[in-house]
Amino acid sequence: MRVTVRQLQTFEAVARLGSVTRAAEEMHVSQPTVSKQMKQLQEEIGLPLLDQIGKKLFLTEAGQELYQTCSEWISTWGRLEQKMADLKGMKQGRLRIAAVTTTKYFMPRILGPFCQTYPGIDVSLEVLNRTRVLERLQQNEDDLYIMGVPPDDASVVAQAFLENQLVIIAPASHALAQQSKISLQTLAQEPFVLREQGSGTRLLIERLFRESGLNLNVRMELGSNEAIKQAVAGGLGISLISRSTLHGGPISSEIALLDVVDFPIKRHWYVLHHRDKKASVVTKTFIEYLFTHIDLLRPHT
Ligand code: PGA
Repeated sequence: MRVTVRQLQTFEAVARLGSVTRAAEEMHVSQPTVSKQMKQLQEEIGLPLLDQIGKKLFLTEAGQELYQTCSEWISTWGRLEQKMADLKGMKQGRLRIAAVTTTKYFMPRILGPFCQTYPGIDVSLEVLNRTRVLERLQQNEDDLYIMGVPPDDASVVAQAFLENQLVIIAPASHALAQQSKISLQTLAQEPFVLREQGSGTRLLIERLFRESGLNLNVRMELGSNEAIKQAVAGGLGISLISRSTLHGGPISSEIALLDVVDFPIKRHWYVLHHRDKKASVVTKTFIEYLFTHIDLLRPHT
């Protein structure tokens, strides 16, 4: 078979993203280029790799086999490239980070200066909720993972790098906004707006209520911290949220932080990696940068 590396990379992107258009975007080429490479690859292999049903692409059995081989090959090749760069002692290569949704309020503040300091390092940041980040951790898809509630798993090393305060928010006009030392029992009377299942923030409020023997009165579930803040400002309920999401922005004045007993809850953000995975020079460089430039992540207020 005379299959080219480029064709395999293109196929992997199409299969992973389930779309020729998105693969073309990711690879910075035109859609016809991707389609042409797919056609040539199918001809070379002699079997159909993709089925199009309506607008959706599905992998055929041959496509699934090839996708698995391509994924393995890409990660083996990536490791080889990284090893070569490491052998040369070079701070260059790719750094894959998967981080929970809430970290998007501060992680970009360190990635910008980091990339400027190390132009040879190509950083990709996947922002997903906690469950999805854990899935990636299990599949060993990234170099580092960032989350607020690390798994209880001895094969993973979690280092705390930044404080994470959790607060209860209510509409600014809410009667509780004028009270102090509010009890959890009082909060249990209020309707809550919660993040989606799989969110670390949601896990924490559910755990808190469960351990206190109280029921959470859930009015609504929303898939992002921004939507939560809007819903709270709009009077739909109260919520638990990381203080990192509240700095600045027009919505801040429409929201009040409630004075609740034992709040704010003081936790940390953690950077995680597999215990047995040998960290590349790039990964070590990032961890060191993170700990020495932690002030970049703190709000300037
Ligand atoms: P989340 O995770 O953004 O999925 O809610 C937050 C956390 O891990 O603390």
